[in-house]
Amino acid sequence: MKIPFLIGLTGILGAVITTQTGSGDSLLEKHTKQLQTAKSIDVQYTVQNLPGGGPVEYKLKLGKEGKFKLETPDQTLVANGTTVWDFKKADNSYTQTAQTEADLKTFLKKDAVLPWVAFFTKEPFKDVTGIKVGSARIIKGKAVTEVALVLPGKPERTATLFIDNTLGVARGISLKTGEDKQLIMMAKELTLSNDAPADADFNFSVPEGAKKVDPSAVATVAWDKVAPIFQTNCAGCHNSNNPRSGLDLSSYAGAMAGGRGGSEITAGDPDGSRLTAFLKGAGKPLMPPRGSLSDADLATIASWIKAGAKEK
Ligand code: HEC
Repeated sequence: MKIPFLIGLTGILGAVITTQTGSGDSLLEKHTKQLQTAKSIDVQYTVQNLPGGGPVEYKLKLGKEGKFKLETPDQTLVANGTTVWDFKKADNSYTQTAQTEADLKTFLKKDAVLPWVAFFTKEPFKDVTGIKVGSARIIKGKAVTEVALVLPGKPERTATLFIDNTLGVARGISLKTGEDKQLIMMAKELTLSNDAPADADFNFSVPEGAKKVDPSAVATVAWDKVAPIFQTNCAGCHNSNNPRSGLDLSSYAGAMAGGRGGSEITAGDPDGSRLTAFLKGAGKPLMPPRGSLSDADLATIASWIKAGAKEK
């Protein structure tokens, strides 16, 4: 799937300002234009969650047509326009999936990318209100001008962008994330380029010993996804009052306790679970007796078991 050059995205920082509300608009307009016309951007920055969090290092690289790479202490997320790789350092594992427009939208909703979403979005500040120019400051040796704004969404969040006076582009942001909580991001290095990035910049090289995992196993399908299926199709007979075959499917504890034939669910192994056998008619009689579940419901139950048959 081809990722468009610029995407429409609402609810984030996001349009070239058309109304006149003061010189904050012209700063944001310039920032947006610079990012939209650049072919690539590289940022090395620190991210700090206050109170308490020390600064951690992030690296971001963007290229048009949906190319992005974000490196954090926990994760490497790379998309080259056709494929997305998501590497989790703690597990030394990664997923590899075909890239869709939704991947870019999800990526642009990350707070860690907030100051630079205009690189990809048509109207990055469309729904932003309360734009106000604050003071000029020197941060990490760079002259910046503060622009305060209110981000759309619920709850509304206030933020201050730090616009680099020389580049005309935000070097960072201070974002109020809660009552006393704040996220501060500040670039140490920020480079905009009019040259398209090299393809190699968005290649993912598999880290030493990392294992590839199936994304469907990663997505946590928990009890809340399967409970309604059991409730509708099974709990008429498999309930706590008079469970047929001793199997109560009206609660998580009941499902995990199993029935007369023993354990019904082998976490992580849908094909090896007794329950699956009855759902597919390999165990007799077929369950539910009136006719088998839809493929979608069967797939949901299978992914729940595969993901560990977790309650939450
Ligand atoms: C109309 C009643 C009814 C419905 C609805 C029903 N079951 Fe059953 N189920 C039974 C009966 C009766 C048995 C015992 C069958 C036998 O042993 O011959 C049974 C047995 C089972 C067993 C074997 C239990 C064991 O310990 O041996 C499993 C697993 C099972 N059902 C799962 C399900 C699931 C999952 C659903 C819903 C998708 C479901 N059942 C819906 C009546 C029902």
